[in-house]
Amino acid sequence: MSVTLTPRIHARVAAKITCVGAYAPPRLLTNADLEKMVTTNDQWIVERTGIRQRHLVDAGVATSDLAAAAARDCLAQRGIQASELDAILVATVTPDMMFPATACLVQEKIGAVGAWGFDLSAACSGFLYALQVGAKLIESGVHSKVMVIGADVMSSILDYTDRSTCILFGDGAGAVLLEPAVADEVGMVDFIHEIDGTGATSLYMPAGGSLHPATAETVATKMHFVHQEGGAVFKVAVRKMAELSEALLQRNGLTAADVDLFIPHQANKRIILATAERLGMPEEKIVINIGEYGNTTAGTIPLAMHTALQEGRLKKGMTVLLAAFGGGYTIGSTLLRWE
Ligand code: COA
Repeated sequence: MSVTLTPRIHARVAAKITCVGAYAPPRLLTNADLEKMVTTNDQWIVERTGIRQRHLVDAGVATSDLAAAAARDCLAQRGIQASELDAILVATVTPDMMFPATACLVQEKIGAVGAWGFDLSAACSGFLYALQVGAKLIESGVHSKVMVIGADVMSSILDYTDRSTCILFGDGAGAVLLEPAVADEVGMVDFIHEIDGTGATSLYMPAGGSLHPATAETVATKMHFVHQEGGAVFKVAVRKMAELSEALLQRNGLTAADVDLFIPHQANKRIILATAERLGMPEEKIVINIGEYGNTTAGTIPLAMHTALQEGRLKKGMTVLLAAFGGGYTIGSTLLRWE
């Protein structure tokens, strides 16, 4: 005999970001330091990328440590306990281990007893993708506190003899708390995401997965490092971030003039400016902190939100556009009202 079951369906609510936490390890790798490691120079790096320094972990510090520090910062600002979290989503391509998920390690480190969660792999678009998944958990009415973290220790997968990649990336993490919007708040408005596997080998780490498990040969041939076709990635990044952002604005009846703040993924200052130019977004509306952190992959957008808040540029009521591009390819654009 079948029992009576009642679906756990809740009224739809909107999701909003209620606080932003950040953490970057204290050790710095400057362009002057890199000049001693590979044939490069400060002027080339600054002109081609806008990067002046990156933060790097010390040995033994992993992605979960950065993620937990950013999450603690976020919880402290909100004044709530980790045990109040319903879920923890960690976007990363540099998990502490293949498994368990870094989210589990973060859960234990911050003491989020009773939470569930998982990792999400979408490279530099990872934070935007996790933000949407987290928002859906809130919008479903099932959860009221979801921690979304973007964290990467890119220094763990970089070849510091390859000047075309090692200058670009840094380590860092950012975390936001998603909660239900109240009264007339708007919060998360809309998003467009797209993946394109034709770019899979344009920006990737070839070994360490099921296709090429670790062997002495994969190590000797540097297959556990980031490999990239920089020029190809640059062009697709600009075209696709602009295309998706434009489409997102259009379908919400907006133009760049209606956006108060544009917070893009921080991969290269020239990519950011070229994307903004295509969108008709003036430079004063763009948040750029790549000079300080380099490309921290899933960490860039929450770190840039944190910078914008610290500088007093991100304020209640603002219409904010986020855009990201990453290995995969993965592309995303998100529209929200800052509450
Ligand atoms: N220092 C000095 N010279 C360098 C260098 C470095 N760190 N890296 C490359 N060069 C050299 C190249 O060897 C090349 O020399 P050549 O003309 O003698 O062959 C020259 O600089 C120009 O290289 P090129 O690759 O055309 O430079 P670029 O202007 O395209 O800049 C990147 C290279 C990597 C900065 C740029 O392609 C880029 O940012 N791509 C996107 C990368 C990215 O953001 N990835 C993450 C996406 S989420």
